[in-house]
Amino acid sequence: MILSYKALRAYIFRKYRGISNYFRPGVSFKSERYKKLEARVPKFELPNPLLTETGSIITNKESWSSGQRVKILNYYQRYIYGNSPFSFLKIGFSILSGDSYCLNGKALKKEVNIFNENKPGAYFRLLIIMPASTIEAGLKAPVFLGLNFFGNQTITREKDISVTESWLPNNSITLGRKAESLRGIQLSSWPIRQIIDAGYALATAYCGDIVPDKSDGIDLSIEHWFSKEERHNFELGALGAIDGWAWGLRKAMDYIEQDEDLDASRVVVLGHSRLGKAALWAGAQDPRFAIIISNESGCGGATLFRRRFGETIASINQQYPHWFCQEFKKFNNRENELLVDQHELIGLIAPRPVYIASAQRDLEADPYGEFLAAKNASTIYKLFGLIGLQAEELPPVNTSIMGNIGYHIRSGCHGIKRFDWIQFIRFADKTFAQSSNNLHSV
Ligand code: GCU
Repeated sequence: MILSYKALRAYIFRKYRGISNYFRPGVSFKSERYKKLEARVPKFELPNPLLTETGSIITNKESWSSGQRVKILNYYQRYIYGNSPFSFLKIGFSILSGDSYCLNGKALKKEVNIFNENKPGAYFRLLIIMPASTIEAGLKAPVFLGLNFFGNQTITREKDISVTESWLPNNSITLGRKAESLRGIQLSSWPIRQIIDAGYALATAYCGDIVPDKSDGIDLSIEHWFSKEERHNFELGALGAIDGWAWGLRKAMDYIEQDEDLDASRVVVLGHSRLGKAALWAGAQDPRFAIIISNESGCGGATLFRRRFGETIASINQQYPHWFCQEFKKFNNRENELLVDQHELIGLIAPRPVYIASAQRDLEADPYGEFLAAKNASTIYKLFGLIGLQAEELPPVNTSIMGNIGYHIRSGCHGIKRFDWIQFIRFADKTFAQSSNNLHSV
């Protein structure tokens, strides 16, 4: 029997519901059902990021950066994402395959192992694809850096990119296939030609090479990464996969800093969905990332917990118990007891540019909550004399707002699409053009 595409989608959705939400049916943002859901959002007050423990209000960037920002960051480490022991590891880099041409000579690629120096078998692999013309001219390329969901071999059809040997989820996308047969299946999420044509390099690693995305994945990653002697260094409850993935992004940044082909001062860290949560968390902690982009990161990412719209703390902790630290479970159904909300996570990135992207039918991720978080993060940008998000109301669909905080809501469902990438590249172009103008005017 040959199933139509629609029937196949419906079959996959029924079969894998609960395992993956990649084919979310969604409801329209303007529909009656949506309005009913919106009417259920409880009344809440957002924590004021500028209000200190002693009741005073922060009024300048100095006291924000040296005091309040650090306190909020520590709070996130302790109660939400964890503060994983990965930072104790001594990391080395080895170039697995040197520069070789790909994409019909337009690009050069290389693969790098980022490994534990005390346990060299423990590594994750960074794939880097660079614009050939930039490298041939002896220039350094700016970089888009992001984790991928199913292995580096899935983002391009190039045959000689190594295949991940780590655990792979068996969900509606991989459907039980072997890693080798997944070559190129994520091509539409990673428009490499477009990125290369715009003059950027792309650096990516498989999230599952760092922490496998399953409930015992943290245990597996401890076995994988740490030697016996190193294991006494950590507290189990402080481990969370999102924090592990963010650590991976920061280690990739360590590598980029020492690669002569790449411009470490122009690195855009981005991620979609759960990997967008990791990109925001990496960007909040690490000032070396010049631009941070979250695509539909939703609960635990760019949206406000207190709205309880779509996915909530209780449901995310139940379905993905390994993503956050143990303390976070105490906030199931107690959003108001958290001392922070996600406008503050975005605000931790200030004054660097950040872009939040939502999709109209991706209601699980609460697009309106993402918009409100972006808008409320503006308070912190103002301390730096910057305008945050230049919009009072949710903009019309497919309209990008580009300020120090960028935002769009795309039509359609959950996913990272061509439209999203076009905006991300424009945002990076605009930011980097501005910074080079500033340099010239100094
Ligand atoms: C699930 C999860 C979300 C996550 C998404 C994804 O839908 O509930 O929190 O963002 O998967 O990563 O695609």
